[in-house]
Amino acid sequence: MEKNLIKDTLEKIGQTVTISGWVDTKRDHGKLTFIDLRDRSGKVQCVGFQKMSDLSTESVVELSGIVKERPERMVNPELETGTIEIEVNEYKILNKAAELPIPVDSDGRDINEEVRLKYRYLDLRRSRLQQNIKLRNTYMQILRNELLNDDFIEIETPLLTKATMEGARDFLVPSRFQPGKFYALPQSPQQYKQLLMVAGFERYFQFPHCLRDEDLRADRGFEHTQLDIEISFVNREQVMKRIENLVKTAVKGVGGKLKDETFPVFTYKEAMEKYGADKFDLRTEEEKKDNVLAFAWVVDFPFFKKVDKGDAAEMRDSKSGWTFTHNPFSSPLPEHEEWLLKGERIDEIMTAQYDLVCNGLEVGGGSIRAHKPEVLKATYKVMGYSEKETEESIGHMLEAFTFGAPPHGGIALGIDRHVAILSGEDSIKEVIAFPMTSTGRTAVTNAPSEVKDEQLKELGIKVAA
Ligand code: AMO
Repeated sequence: MEKNLIKDTLEKIGQTVTISGWVDTKRDHGKLTFIDLRDRSGKVQCVGFQKMSDLSTESVVELSGIVKERPERMVNPELETGTIEIEVNEYKILNKAAELPIPVDSDGRDINEEVRLKYRYLDLRRSRLQQNIKLRNTYMQILRNELLNDDFIEIETPLLTKATMEGARDFLVPSRFQPGKFYALPQSPQQYKQLLMVAGFERYFQFPHCLRDEDLRADRGFEHTQLDIEISFVNREQVMKRIENLVKTAVKGVGGKLKDETFPVFTYKEAMEKYGADKFDLRTEEEKKDNVLAFAWVVDFPFFKKVDKGDAAEMRDSKSGWTFTHNPFSSPLPEHEEWLLKGERIDEIMTAQYDLVCNGLEVGGGSIRAHKPEVLKATYKVMGYSEKETEESIGHMLEAFTFGAPPHGGIALGIDRHVAILSGEDSIKEVIAFPMTSTGRTAVTNAPSEVKDEQLKELGIKVAA
């Protein structure tokens, strides 16, 4: 018999239906057993005979029965299908569930994180997480569709690549073919998306996984998902407007509430003076309770800052004591290009960078890029790179920019943070299907783990510690 979705049984009063799913709850009433069966579309009460009392909760069952209207006093307003129930004729256990190590009928917030992530496939059954993951899907699909309708194309870029500076440590992957050499997993597709502009695509997007070895926090993972965008022949204001419209459409599309139809724009200086930080929360107490989203832009950042000696990535990236604040591939503001080219007034040079903030978090960042080799070279010079070192680091980009590079700019939105804010979650882990633990171990599979000696040998690696 054809299978029905539970939510559709509402329309099938008097008919026999076949449904399958998980036993959500079970109640024994003497000769009768009541179960709520759950599938991806919802839950429905099923009334069966005594034998059904064998069913353990969370077992997977297929059953068929007649859809009956419930008498008025038996209606359950809590359930979408609360006006009906299914009188079971027959059922089949497809997989019997042992007792679960964690409950899945609560919001799960009081369960230890290690245990939740060890059994993430169970943890994900709870309705809070089902909703979060579905919201994430809808949000991403709206963003994708909007971009496709706007003539953007989705292009994938490699995961095994060369280090690109985004201000964090790299995750390195040893090469078997060339022992002693390493790939770096991308901290972002920054260089490839710019090369796609040189290639003439003009409007690119991708939802890349970006990998950064940095300290873990509620809003930061080793791995995160971006919506990465790059556009040719645009200025800063055009990118910001386009992204603002895109974000507004997607937020509204998932029922989110916006504080402002036009996102306010602050200069970095204004933000620091007013809020003491370049990310801030513009909501009133009332708006916080209502989970309103208060977006704002921050612009006119200094291009360079003095290296923080306690930051290993900054110490490695810079050779002069100066390092970039956001992205070495950015251009300076047009009126400061001369200073950069001459290496003057370094602390006064501002970058054509824009950050998007929302409810106290940085939820996006991008810039108009340097598309002329001499500008990019000048940035590396400020960071103390010799011609040779610059060549080794980004020679391929400098060369690409000599073959007809259009002016271009773009942005990356932090998808995990967007969805966490939309769903009212404090941690991005609550909106990622398989996040890492706070100690950097993978959900369920518990990596990193040791590897066999032969594998290390093949890679030409000896573990010292
Ligand atoms: P940036 O480094 O600002 O820019 O990253 C873009 C956005 O990604 C989110 N994000 C993170 N989310 C979770 N965990 C992390 N570890 C993490 N790191 C960043 C933030 C951030 O605003 N290549 C540039 C973009 C560009 O210039 O186009 C870049 O990656 O929300």
